Amino acid sequence: MGGRPAGALAEEFGTPLVAYCERTVLAAAHAYLGAAPGALVLYGVKAFPNVALLQLLAGEGLGADVSTLGELEYALRAGVPGERLVVHGNNKSDDEVRAAVEAGVHFVVLDALDEVERAAAAGVERVLVRVTPGIEADTHPAIRTAHHGSKFGLPPDQALEAIAAARNAGLEVAGLHLHIGSQLLDTQAARTSVDWLGGFAAECSQELGWAPAVVDLGGGLGIEYAEGDHAPAIADFVTTLLQRLEQAWTLHGLTRPQVILEPGRSLVGRAGVTLYRVGVVKRASETTTYVAIDGGMSDNPRPQLYGARYSALLANRADEEATSSYTVCGKHCESGDVLIESVSLPEPRRGDLLAVPGTGAYTLGMGSNYNAVPRPAAVLVADGQARLIRRRESIDDVLRHEETSG
Ligand SMILES: Cc1ncc(COP(=O)(O)O)c(C=O)c1O
Repeated sequence: MGGRPAGALAEEFGTPLVAYCERTVLAAAHAYLGAAPGALVLYGVKAFPNVALLQLLAGEGLGADVSTLGELEYALRAGVPGERLVVHGNNKSDDEVRAAVEAGVHFVVLDALDEVERAAAAGVERVLVRVTPGIEADTHPAIRTAHHGSKFGLPPDQALEAIAAARNAGLEVAGLHLHIGSQLLDTQAARTSVDWLGGFAAECSQELGWAPAVVDLGGGLGIEYAEGDHAPAIADFVTTLLQRLEQAWTLHGLTRPQVILEPGRSLVGRAGVTLYRVGVVKRASETTTYVAIDGGMSDNPRPQLYGARYSALLANRADEEATSSYTVCGKHCESGDVLIESVSLPEPRRGDLLAVPGTGAYTLGMGSNYNAVPRPAAVLVADGQARLIRRRESIDDVLRHEETSG
C-alpha cells in the first residue's frame, strides 16, 4: 500500500489502522480538476475530517465544504484560505455563522428562511441558496438529500422567497446550491437535477430579475465497495454534469455560471484501507464461521447505518486460495456488529491481518467510542513512507471527559 507492505504498516502503527494512499487521493483530486477546469472544487470534509488530508488537497488548489464549527476549524488549521471555503448546515448556530464571517468564507449556504436575517445580522456578505428540487436519488434513503420533504435546503417556492428576502436584506446572493445525495452509482439523478436547476434558474430570472452567477452542484459520486458495484469514473461523471449544465443554461438563454463541486467520498473513499488484526475464529453454526477483528462498528458504522457491503482479504496471505466463506464481526457488544456478512478467504487464523478496502470515507469520521474502545490511527502512505495523520486514541483519551469527586 503506497509502496509499504501492509504488515509493516501494522507493525509500526498497530491495528486497527486506516492507511490512506496519497497517490490515490491526488489522482482523484486531479481527475476533478482536469474534468472541471475553472470550477472551484471543495473537499466535503464530513467524509473524513483530517488536517493533513486537507493540507494535501489544499496544496492542489482544492478548498473545503464545512458544515459545523468543528469542520471549519479543521479547514482553518489546514490553512485552507477563506475564498476556498463554503459553509453548510441545516441548523447553523449563531457561533457557526459568526465563525464563518470571521474566517472570511467565500459563501454561506442559506438552508432555511430564518437564516436570511440571522446571516445579514451577523455580517455575512455572500450567500448561496440551497434548493431542494424533490428528486429522489437512487441511493440509501439516509443519504438522499433533495427529495420532497428533505430536512436540507428549501423547496422551490421558499427558495425564491429566500433569494428575494436575502437581496432585500443587503446580502449578495451569488447563486444556488444543490446536493441530491451521496454514493450515487450512475448519473441519472444528477443529470435530472441539473436540468431541473436550469429551469429553476430561468424561473428566478423571470420572477426576480435575478439569475445565479454561481451554481454549486454538491458532491455525491459513489465508489465501488464490493464485487458487483459499478461507479462512474470521476471524469465521466463530472463531464456529463457539466455538459448537461451547458445545455440547460443554453436552452434557457442564461449566462453560464461559475461551478462549484463538493466531492467527499469519491476523493478519499477508495484511498483508505483499514487493517485489522484477526482474533477469535469461531464456527458458530453449520453455515456461519465468524472471524473477529480488533475493531468494528466503532471505527466503521456504515454496515449498521446503511447495510453497507465490503470485501476483504488477508493481507499477510493474499496469494493463498480462498477456502471458504466467513463472516467478519467486530469486538463490540452487539450481534449487529458485523462488518462483512460473507467474504471468501483462506482459512483465517489468529494474528492474520485483514485488509478492508474502500474505507476512507464516512468510516473513522463517523466512528464512536462505543464500549469505551479508542478509535484507530490513520496514516498517509506515499513512495514507501508512512506518515501518522491521526494519532491512535488512548484509554485516557476515551476517559478524558469524566468528572469524578475525589
Ligand atoms: C452539502 C454536501 N456537499 C457535499 C457532500 C459530500 O458528498 P459525497 O461524499 O457524497 O461526495 C455532502 C455529503 O453528504 C453534502 O451534504
